Amino acid sequence: MELLDVAIEAAKKAGEVVLRHFETSIVRHVKADKSFVTAADMEAEAAILREIKKAFPGHSILCEESGAERQDSAYEWVIDPLDGTANFVNGIPLFAISIATLQDGTPTAAVVYQPVGNSLYTAEKGKGTYWNGKRVKVSDGGGEHAMITFAPGKKEKKRLNTLLGAAEQFVKSKRYLGCAALDLVYVARGGTEGTFFLGLNKWDYAAGVLLVKEAGGKITDFAGIPWTFGSSDFFIASNGVIHDDLLKLAATAAP
Ligand code: IPD
Ligand code: CA
Ligand code: CA
Repeated sequence: MELLDVAIEAAKKAGEVVLRHFETSIVRHVKADKSFVTAADMEAEAAILREIKKAFPGHSILCEESGAERQDSAYEWVIDPLDGTANFVNGIPLFAISIATLQDGTPTAAVVYQPVGNSLYTAEKGKGTYWNGKRVKVSDGGGEHAMITFAPGKKEKKRLNTLLGAAEQFVKSKRYLGCAALDLVYVARGGTEGTFFLGLNKWDYAAGVLLVKEAGGKITDFAGIPWTFGSSDFFIASNGVIHDDLLKLAATAAP
């Protein structure tokens, strides 16, 4: 099986697990960093790892819940088994499974699966971005109609508030969705015009950044320097059209 097929299979299996929990009772625990973890996070991660290890036992893995498993391989799987856990535990259906494969440190295959609504987003390097099998592109909208979103890390509340306060000088509207993988999906599929990432982890964005790039989007750091995977955890992903406006907004809260 190809990398992308395995990623899709794993994401769908995890989606079944997560949906089963969402529709019944949600048991939450608080992690050391005060974020929630649920049985759904753990079971979804186990389901994903089973699929990947069966197909590619020699590949390295980086998972949110169980950490890193390094092997002598050019390939690494970067996995968030449930992105948007705080939404999930509060009954808000904005959560997703995010799986990417890196080859020599660069994402080459990506899947984000939103189980509520059964939306599957996929990309392979050089082959475009697909939403349930249909090719998608970033929007061509400018600032006067633009909506942007924010994906902040836990220590970035102050910077987030600065950006939220200034956003409407540059765009029409703003949101904080609480699901980083979907922040990037909505840019990639031509919905929102841009998103700000503030100090998140690789598993939050490894799949989403490939979806944006393959859909024709632009990603830079807050100073406008082209972003490459791992260069910084602070970046702006956009449709390209409003990127300069977003850089002006970024300057109000540079890291
Ligand atoms: C969280 C989400 C959220 C972001 C948080 C992340 P999790 O991931 O992506 O959008 O603002 O900082 O931790 O914990 O639900 O996988
Ligand atoms: Ca996450
Ligand atoms: Ca997670």
